[in-house]
Amino acid sequence: MALTAPLVHNAFPKTPIIPFHGESLPSSSSFISSPLTLSRSSSLLGNHSLSRKQFVVFARKVSGLEEAMNIRRERELRVVTKFKKRPPLKRGRVSPGLPVPDHILRPPYVGTNILPEIASEHQIHDSEGIAKMRAACELAARVLNHAGTLVRPSITTNEIDKEVHQMIIDAGAYPSPLGYGGFPKSVCTSVNECMCHGIPDSRQLQNGDIVNIDVTVYLDGYHGDTSKTYFCGEVSDELKNFVKVTEECLEKGIAACRDGALFRKIGKKISEHAEKYGYGVVERFVGHGVGRVFHSEPIILHNRNEKPGRMVEGQTFTIEPILSMGSINSITWPDNWTTLTADGSPAAQFEHTILITKTGAEILTTC
Ligand code: MF3
Ligand code: CO
Ligand code: CO
Repeated sequence: MALTAPLVHNAFPKTPIIPFHGESLPSSSSFISSPLTLSRSSSLLGNHSLSRKQFVVFARKVSGLEEAMNIRRERELRVVTKFKKRPPLKRGRVSPGLPVPDHILRPPYVGTNILPEIASEHQIHDSEGIAKMRAACELAARVLNHAGTLVRPSITTNEIDKEVHQMIIDAGAYPSPLGYGGFPKSVCTSVNECMCHGIPDSRQLQNGDIVNIDVTVYLDGYHGDTSKTYFCGEVSDELKNFVKVTEECLEKGIAACRDGALFRKIGKKISEHAEKYGYGVVERFVGHGVGRVFHSEPIILHNRNEKPGRMVEGQTFTIEPILSMGSINSITWPDNWTTLTADGSPAAQFEHTILITKTGAEILTTC
């Protein structure tokens, strides 16, 4: 993913931000005009010594307080039943990036710290290119599956980074994120409300967390890019369903692909599925051509859109929808990478690199 979607082809306006953390009590008109329901026998009235006027004022105060408490209780209940509120994600310490042996081929952006432009050429391969894409993507899938086996309460995302880094180096490949536009580590680890681009750090995963691990490798001049969202320990049924639907969205998107198909069918299929469950499809981050270059055209929008263009046999690109249980708007930390849902609600993502064929799409990032 990684890319900011151009706004031009979006068919629908953005949804407003609904604050989730630290929201204030809504003002309620019933606070001042709710009917008086205290009975005359209420102990609050004491020895009937209150005048009618005093009674009204006093009752209004009680009513207002009750109303405020009701609103609060309702809101808390809503959050608990929708998804158990987890403490907001805090950043840990980020250790220095790991060394890469000299004999390993580096992508051209390494050492520049400049975020590369999205290359304009689509990536369409001959049989030799396809063979190399297969190899890179298979390695990415193997590394991702291994990373997934490490997910458990108390492991740090930095430890996951270390293992991912080592496995990629051992295979003679380069971890594509390391040094991409200054990204400091070898893999992205995005926890709970983190939509994407989480930087591995000293934070220990907690029981009930979800974590997306996004692996990209550069092998023999080709990138393979894939991610999955994993459960850490016991995760609530609501979250489990949310993550399952996100994976299904990726599958629906892939099923829309074949030589000659419109790119915009992908966003339509994904949106239809997410909407069925009331989840939001994030618009800011998109899929992309991938191959010799990490990020190129075509930009793949996961939301409904009117973008023109059709798929071509031999072409490789990613599909990588991010869903949110709440707001699809995002905020990015001052590290310029870590991106969270604006309202703190959980986000999940799955990604594959696919190859367009005459009759469909082949998922390259499998093993
Ligand atoms: N793997 C991400 C993608 O799916 C890109 C990560 S770029 C990084 O496109 F610099 F954040 F690693
Ligand atoms: Co990608
Ligand atoms: Co990726």
